[in-house]
Amino acid sequence: MSRKGINRRRFIETASAGTLGAITLSVMPSCSQTKGKLAILGGEPVRSNKPWPKWPYSDESIVDSVVKTTESGIWCRIQSKTGTVPTFEKAFAELMEAKYCVCVGSGTQALHTSVEALGIGPGDEIITSPYTDPGTIASILSARALPVLADLDPESFQQDPADVERRVTENTRAIMPVHMMGQPADVDNIMAIAKKHNLFVIEDACQTHLAKHRGKTLGTIGNLGCFSFQASKTLACGEGGAIIGDDEELMDICFTVQNHGTSRSGSTERIGPKYRMNEFEAAVLLGQMASVKERFALRNENANYLYSKLKGFPGVVPQKLYPGTDSGSFYLFSMSYKKEHFNNADRDTFLKAVNAEGVPLDGYIKIGLHKEKWVDTILNQKVYQKMYSPERLQKYREEIDCPVCDQVCKDMLMIWASGPLLGTKDDMDDIINGIMKVYENRDQLKNV
Ligand SMILES: Cc1ncc(COP(=O)(O)O)c(C=O)c1O
Repeated sequence: MSRKGINRRRFIETASAGTLGAITLSVMPSCSQTKGKLAILGGEPVRSNKPWPKWPYSDESIVDSVVKTTESGIWCRIQSKTGTVPTFEKAFAELMEAKYCVCVGSGTQALHTSVEALGIGPGDEIITSPYTDPGTIASILSARALPVLADLDPESFQQDPADVERRVTENTRAIMPVHMMGQPADVDNIMAIAKKHNLFVIEDACQTHLAKHRGKTLGTIGNLGCFSFQASKTLACGEGGAIIGDDEELMDICFTVQNHGTSRSGSTERIGPKYRMNEFEAAVLLGQMASVKERFALRNENANYLYSKLKGFPGVVPQKLYPGTDSGSFYLFSMSYKKEHFNNADRDTFLKAVNAEGVPLDGYIKIGLHKEKWVDTILNQKVYQKMYSPERLQKYREEIDCPVCDQVCKDMLMIWASGPLLGTKDDMDDIINGIMKVYENRDQLKNV
């Protein structure tokens, strides 16, 4: 497969791996270092003194773009219709194959602007995921709407559409699917539920730049798609966000909402915060546009390679991808840890051992959002008690549990992939060899 292009068919064939069974020879390490003492117990590590590609990266094109903006004196988007923010909005819409884009200061702001623009507020409910960044629910709470959390599919770590449908009430106005790790959620089923119940879909594509499902870029499938450009993301400027969509009128409302309620023509007509992106953030983003697709393709190629190497290995099972997945953004490369294949060593012991081999695996979200304090806060808050009936709030508390999410939080293994998945095949082999070394020597984990 070429480094620049994604071979879509092969990606799907290999990426739908994950069936448990006997370990195939293809997953066994080719490296001689895998038998022997674990590095955490004093053995030779699989990888040492070899840095991973760093993220965020910088290059001359980004620096030139920022210098140009500095010297132009156009530092705020309202100073010019052709400054870096409007220019980036056009470029990003084109890149994502959407008609329109409105930039804002963060992914959370993009989501909140979308909720407000669709007229969702107190008394309304939005169904989203408990396994996400707090920004997802912050966007719903900021509109004083009720975030209803649907449990997960344990293999994909995405919202389970069956649980989404179970949680629809007469006050549900929208579904906010989160494309976790940068890979598509169960889009086919979520869109079908939205259609059946006449709900808006606000895609939380904050982790998901450029990924496609059935030929459509994520973010263009629902009514609105929201992105984050926070420093760790695969397209980053420190803090930043964008909304994309095809409905001109709705996108104009998004503009108005994020511009303190003031429209493009200057009339102040809605409730809205001031969320405008600044020109320097857009300059950093513009400086990456020429090369962003190349990095996206390389991450997919490397992810594809990791999927193929882990195929059939029962100890570490990569994120399930749904039918129709053409590509992912691979913000994270995520897997489930199956301790029964590691002599029942707990995940943290495994992580310590694999980290000592020089492989940067980590857990991810420690507890689902359904277990955080905000639930009590809103249930005791006047505005929620006024806008939602006591029966609804009682039921909300009773049904907040998401046991699959709890399990996913415990079993998750992941690599922050924005930088590391830009590495070489040797780097990818180090990841596999680190995991396999710990597996082959799993009897030593009791001594860690
Ligand atoms: C899934 C998801 N949703 C929302 C957000 C919020 O984006 P931001 O941090 O830019 O506000 C993030 C950021 O990490 C995210 O990963």
